[in-house]
Amino acid sequence: MSDHIQINLGDHQYPLIINNAFNFSCLSKRLQDKKVLLVSNETVAPLYLDEIKSALPFCQLFECILPDGEQHKNLLSWELILNSLADCGLTRTDVLISIGGGVICDMTGFAAASWMRGVDFIQVPTTLLSQIDASIGGKTGINHPRGKNLIGAFHQPLAVMINTTTLQTLPQREFVAGIGEAIKYAGINQPDFAHWLSDNQTGIMSLDDEVLRELIVRCCRFKADLVEQDEKEQGIRALLNLGHTFGHALEAATAYQGYLHGEAVALGMVMAAELSFQLGFCDSELRKTLERLLRGFKLPYRLKKSIAAEQLVELMRLDKKVQSGQHRLILMKGLGQAFIAKGIEENDILNAIRACV
Ligand SMILES: NC(=O)c1ccc[n+]([C@@H]2O[C@H](COP(=O)([O-])OP(=O)(O)OC[C@H]3O[C@@H](n4cnc5c(N)ncnc54)[C@H](O)[C@@H]3O)[C@@H](O)[C@H]2O)c1
Repeated sequence: MSDHIQINLGDHQYPLIINNAFNFSCLSKRLQDKKVLLVSNETVAPLYLDEIKSALPFCQLFECILPDGEQHKNLLSWELILNSLADCGLTRTDVLISIGGGVICDMTGFAAASWMRGVDFIQVPTTLLSQIDASIGGKTGINHPRGKNLIGAFHQPLAVMINTTTLQTLPQREFVAGIGEAIKYAGINQPDFAHWLSDNQTGIMSLDDEVLRELIVRCCRFKADLVEQDEKEQGIRALLNLGHTFGHALEAATAYQGYLHGEAVALGMVMAAELSFQLGFCDSELRKTLERLLRGFKLPYRLKKSIAAEQLVELMRLDKKVQSGQHRLILMKGLGQAFIAKGIEENDILNAIRACV
């Protein structure tokens, strides 16, 4: 049995299909006899590529297997995908398929956005984080040495095909990092979801199929709702960046080796809660509630002493949300009451970070 969520974006609509197998039959008409480049990495390809190839008997398949890791989400990997597209002679009516976590989803999407000024692509996300967040909504891109996701484009996929059984092979730390992004939805506008996460912690951590499916369906609906209201992040979609400005700085400060993305977002949310408290937007309970939730899932909620607050603030200056030199951050008036705060002083940010050690 599969769950089906439709993303409606005016002139473009596409399905998110949540299943417990790889099944592309609903796309067979679109893919019939087309050239399809499968993009994956050295970790995921040995696990799932053969199964996926057998599920795609109706098209002409090619592969591009990249090195694994956030440090490879860069111009070189993007160029390797473009070289594969050139080698297989992929034309405007052909298709790319990403098979992997958020890194592969973002890079494949960006290659699809740039090849011949835009070709279709399908997301097959295989981490919890990419199934509930990265594969949905059309943000594609790569990192620049100066900062995360600085190069990219909005390019919506043709479909997102989620196979929940792929989570069985995901290392536990990666799985838990995905929970960091799930908790983000509770912080933005879904306070009841925080209770659901606490109540279902055992089922989630034991990878109970029914609980996982509900987790994924709920999160996909939360994200779909925000993306439908604001596809190009002119307003409300920016709320999805809760914890991310701090988080991206944490990732860059540790050369993408210290924190997984979802872990950095988790700690970033604590910093956002502390800053919200210090600026008088909420009481101190918010940070405590978030910390309890994060601690329950063994996610980080305190900053390592070795990371200087000054370095994080310097890195935050390069964030895409900085406008005319002023910091714009997602803060909270309470759990589930996120808002866009403009003109935040660096000194206040520094104090909040220091209070999270
Ligand atoms: N575009 C968006 O809207 C959006 C949203 C959130 C995050 N992101 C991006 O997503 C990235 C993080 O994604 P991620 O957390 O999935 O990291 P990731 O892509 O690096 O995957 C994590 C690790 O798990 C491995 N892996 C993937 N699936 C596996 C499986 N089923 N079994 C075993 N191993 C598996 C990967 O090879 C990798 O080593 C970041 O670059 C972030 O910027 C994008």
